[in-house]
Amino acid sequence: MKKIILDTDPGIDDAIAICYALNHPQLDVLALTTIFGNVATELATQNALRLCELNKHNVAVATGTAVPLQIAPHPVADFVHGSNGFGEIELPSPAQKPITSSAAEFIVDTIKKHPGEVTLVAVGPLSNIALALELAPEIASQVSEVVVMGGAFHRNGNVSKHAEANIWNDPHAAQQVFTADWPLTVHGLDVTYQISFSADYLATIAANSPTVGGFLRDAAKFYSKFYKSQLNFDGCCPHDQLALSYLSNPEWYTLEQGSLDVVTDGEAIGKTTIITNDKSNKSIATKVNRDALLADYAEVLSQAV
Ligand code: BDR
Ligand code: CA
Repeated sequence: MKKIILDTDPGIDDAIAICYALNHPQLDVLALTTIFGNVATELATQNALRLCELNKHNVAVATGTAVPLQIAPHPVADFVHGSNGFGEIELPSPAQKPITSSAAEFIVDTIKKHPGEVTLVAVGPLSNIALALELAPEIASQVSEVVVMGGAFHRNGNVSKHAEANIWNDPHAAQQVFTADWPLTVHGLDVTYQISFSADYLATIAANSPTVGGFLRDAAKFYSKFYKSQLNFDGCCPHDQLALSYLSNPEWYTLEQGSLDVVTDGEAIGKTTIITNDKSNKSIATKVNRDALLADYAEVLSQAV
């Protein structure tokens, strides 16, 4: 089993990724840690708890920071994910509460408790991960690996010509995470736009998993409307899932190795770049086996309630 901490801003594609992680037989989710982005951090925490309860998994949830390291916060992405983060589909208020440690404290303590064993997966702005590094820089050599959804290396961004949303929401945090000396794989828009979940695909998932799959199918309707109206795209893009599928099946991905950088001010704020270098411990994903990913996602979700 691979031990993971999943840092997330749920969010519909976050929900897609969380439901996969919680139902995957080879992924041991030690905690969900929460961050602003698609919704405010407090709602992200409630949504993470809601998803654990929907999936009948009792997993620790730790609340992250409410603001970026240096810039003023951007508005939440309610036009993409709805005002509740779930496309206006309501899940019951959670019975469980978050743990008392902050996300950054939990990340540090857990990596130290299991040296060399914990994979950090971040699918929102990278503020909590940067704060964990600030608290304890030595975790860079104690983590197993870091896997991120964020950035747009060889294409335009999705919130500006230059920037992808997770990086744009906290470029200073991204810069710290991208330049720390730890093994890092980044899944940017270059690879995430290669996958879409169609309405038919989500209907099949719902037929096999009425509760969890049914929720994802319904929540994705709002998200898919955004893709249709803004990008004339049928279906929706499960960005965050690309990082999760990589954990279980890295062989489906083509990677480019190199040193990474983030623009932290000016017109191109949030722009991500790679300088190819085959000695680097950083990589970006550039291509994925689409059919394998879709078949695996459906298989894992068929185990959900
Ligand atoms: C990323 O931004 C968020 O809206 C999504 O959840 C994903 O993490 C895509 O740019
Ligand atoms: Ca996300």
